[in-house]
Amino acid sequence: MLNDSAALRHVLDQVEVVAPTDATVLVLGETGTGKELIARAIHDASGRHDRPFIKVNAAAIPSGLLESELFGHERGAFTSAIAQRIGRFELADGGTLFLDEVGEIPLELQPKLLRVLQEHEFERLGGTRTITVDVRMIAATNRDLAGMVGAGCFRDDLFYRLNVFPIAIPPLRERAEDIDALVDHFVGHFARRLNRRIDVIPSETRKALRQHPWPGNVRELENVIQRAVILSQSGRLALPPLRIESPIRPTQDEAETLDSIERAAIARALEQTSWVVGGPRGAAARLGLKRTTLQSMMKRFGLPLPRERTDDVSRVAG
Ligand SMILES: Nc1ncnc2c1ncn2[C@@H]1O[C@H](COP(=O)(O)OP(=O)(O)OP(=O)(O)O)[C@@H](O)[C@H]1O
Ligand SMILES: [Mg+2]
Repeated sequence: MLNDSAALRHVLDQVEVVAPTDATVLVLGETGTGKELIARAIHDASGRHDRPFIKVNAAAIPSGLLESELFGHERGAFTSAIAQRIGRFELADGGTLFLDEVGEIPLELQPKLLRVLQEHEFERLGGTRTITVDVRMIAATNRDLAGMVGAGCFRDDLFYRLNVFPIAIPPLRERAEDIDALVDHFVGHFARRLNRRIDVIPSETRKALRQHPWPGNVRELENVIQRAVILSQSGRLALPPLRIESPIRPTQDEAETLDSIERAAIARALEQTSWVVGGPRGAAARLGLKRTTLQSMMKRFGLPLPRERTDDVSRVAG
């Protein structure tokens, strides 16, 4: 992680201090500032580094599926729960759970999250057996959680429990000293990947990059450099015009795997179609997939398959 600025070095000092403890960490920062990178750095520097690092993005999962995603479900827990499913907390046992976009956790699920943080225990959805786990939690958000508490959409007890050790990553425009090194790093990276030679970064290009306000932070810089490397033919870095674009939506996290993006898209289409898979108004048609293809993808991603169409119709009607 590049860190020429005092601000980022301070962040990394905090990482070093907190990593070996089991304290819950709340990583705060605008989109693209490196929250996920920091979460991984904490895990890697902790005694749990050879245990799983499990990531859940609360914004990418429909709220109705989030409880099962985090805590798992027993067979028959709900109409379409045809098999038992292990949740992310169980998968993270002994390791770290990175809960991204924690501000998106619905109010009704927050007590269960608080309980697993405090008591290390929970029940699977539809289950009666209490499961105990040893999980270190790192949460992240680009939202103002304290403000959400004030507005009544985030529980104060959960907020205090998460806010034990907050780490705030400043936006890139407040640490312009980091820009030069990041530019060199990304130019080298994309030149190698695209098989291009870039020998010269003109000084006026560097100046423009240092002065841009970067609302999408490091991720935006990374994308701009990628585009620049593609456009550069003569060995000189050719900068595309720098516009002030609206920040990239955090749910379109490019660091996410293709699988998780597909899974989120499928889950969203299913929610929008009330879990109707086939037919002209079903999720398969909406996604441009064959019904059987969608069904096998749902199976692969552990999304519950509706038992039968009539079931769905009654759910829609009810
Ligand atoms: N200091 C840094 N050095 C090198 N690369 C960095 C640094 N900070 C961020 N990056 C890169 O910038 C990109 C965005 O980082 P990351 O995904 O961690 O941001 P984020 O805060 O989680 O964003 P979002 O809120 O959109 O999810 C990644 O490709 C990451 O590798
Ligand atoms: Mg992120």
